Amino acid sequence: MVRKTDFLVIGSGIAGLHYALKVAKYGKVALITKAPIRESTTKYAQGGIAAVVRSPDRVDKHVRDTLDCGKGLCDEKIVNMVVREGPERIKDLIDFGTKFDKDDSGNYELGREGGHSEYRVLHHKDNTGKEIIRALVEAARSHSNIEIIEERFVVEIITQHHLGQLVTSNNPGIECYGAYVLNPDTGEITTFLSKITLLATGGAGMAYQTTTNPGIATGDGIAMVYRAKGMVENMEFVQFHPTSLYNPIERPSFLITEALRGFGAVLKNSDEQEFMYKYDSRGSLSPRDVVARAIDNEMKLSGEDHVYLDCRHIDKVALKRSFPNIYKKCRSLGIDITSDMIPVVPAAHYICGGIKTDEYGLSTINRLYAAGECASTGMHGANRMASNSLLEAVVFADRAARKSSREFKNYKFCDDVPPWDAEGTVLNEEMILITQSLKEVQGIMSNYVGIVRSNLRLERALKRLNLIYKETEDLYIKSILSPKLCELRNVINVAYLIIKMAMKRKENKGLHYSLDYSEK
Ligand code: FAD
Ligand code: SIN
Repeated sequence: MVRKTDFLVIGSGIAGLHYALKVAKYGKVALITKAPIRESTTKYAQGGIAAVVRSPDRVDKHVRDTLDCGKGLCDEKIVNMVVREGPERIKDLIDFGTKFDKDDSGNYELGREGGHSEYRVLHHKDNTGKEIIRALVEAARSHSNIEIIEERFVVEIITQHHLGQLVTSNNPGIECYGAYVLNPDTGEITTFLSKITLLATGGAGMAYQTTTNPGIATGDGIAMVYRAKGMVENMEFVQFHPTSLYNPIERPSFLITEALRGFGAVLKNSDEQEFMYKYDSRGSLSPRDVVARAIDNEMKLSGEDHVYLDCRHIDKVALKRSFPNIYKKCRSLGIDITSDMIPVVPAAHYICGGIKTDEYGLSTINRLYAAGECASTGMHGANRMASNSLLEAVVFADRAARKSSREFKNYKFCDDVPPWDAEGTVLNEEMILITQSLKEVQGIMSNYVGIVRSNLRLERALKRLNLIYKETEDLYIKSILSPKLCELRNVINVAYLIIKMAMKRKENKGLHYSLDYSEK
């Protein structure tokens, strides 16, 4: 089957929904998501969205904090642009129906997180993402130009490669004509032809054993662009959130927001000693790379598998009012955050790199845009500052919408695209081959490509991964496709990119820390 649409949007997180709502004024939009529409990483965002709302904050302060966290690898022009355009995009979110918390005088309540020198994080209690998604989904559902297509899996973006032409990575003329989309219930693959495609497929936390990311975060968009010979960059910068709730039987790990540290919570070891000042003068609110490494070191020193977050000194009523979600979750595990310390451990959280884009979110493949966590725009450098990702996602969704809505009329549908070729494939009855391989990849990444790396560990990781890569490619060629098999393949591609780019970086920088290089 062939379907045609002006704008093909892949992903229903903040980036995909925001873009869809903006371009729907100009043409027909098909928004595809592999899960039910409300399931995305965005839904789990807790702390909030950073923006300069009022004095004493200023654009230059937010810019400086972002650049400091990014350790010299941010693109200063992009950071300036994102921070400057942020307040307008917050207004868009409010216009779409998002409710951010206000104080008794009607002013927006602002939180603070690691690396921020001012209070500037707009939030909805500790459930900000859920509120943003509620508002955007309601707006998208009521828009007559947006067709929402749930539980369909995008397998590949379509380029000249599918027309039988040779495509190489230094070919500036690669074009995206749409995507092949799998219906998991029937096994049928539909060809979606589009004038413009936006990838908003989110992150890749599923490449690791312990992650705050939901199961959808398998790096699909990044892997598709890599296979299509588009440019992917900065993948070595995997951010570990310092404080996920220590509960080894739970996956994904439940996040204990950094905003709690902004509210006064303090990291301690099991002797109830505050340890962060040994590592950085900003203490528990130091940037994430510093805090995650410090916790990793403390755990190695003590031999324990977690540290603690202490909120016991904070006003109990205010704590429960501002963090009801965390209070309830911890309570369900027998932890009363007003009287017990919370056991926490770092977990893979955010991929700073991804699909390289220009200042309008255009990838190196023509007619293909990327926004949100799957993109690498120059905003985050070697270490993303907390609550800057929702901000980056809306600013780039908007910029991509502005540019692509001007240009989509110049493009024609490519009617030469052949249907998906599934000849010779058979049903793979052995799910164990997929689930076990995924666990092996996650083990490799967590053990050898985690917070602290070394050349030896990376080499070992690559060798082990290569074997699983070959087995999976073999299975992929022979099998009738399933989302799980495609996701495994994508996770392997992403893991490969992380390892290879980590090997190339011969220095310690932000989130990439190797025992073989001393900090300069
Ligand atoms: P997502 O929200 O992840 O959406 C991706 C979409 O793509 C999903 O709909 C998915 O189903 C779809 N998709 C993926 N692959 C395919 C495919 N092959 N076919 C079809 N559909 C596909 N950042 C902040 O700035 N502030 C915070 O407070 C904050 N808190 C966080 C808390 C947690 C627990 C986590 C995990 C992250 C947090 N982050 C936060 C990071 C932030 O939430 C994410 O970076 C952001 O939400 C990503 O949005 P997105 O639109 O790019 O992707
Ligand atoms: C958090 O609330 O701690 C997460 C914020 C982020 O990842 O930006």
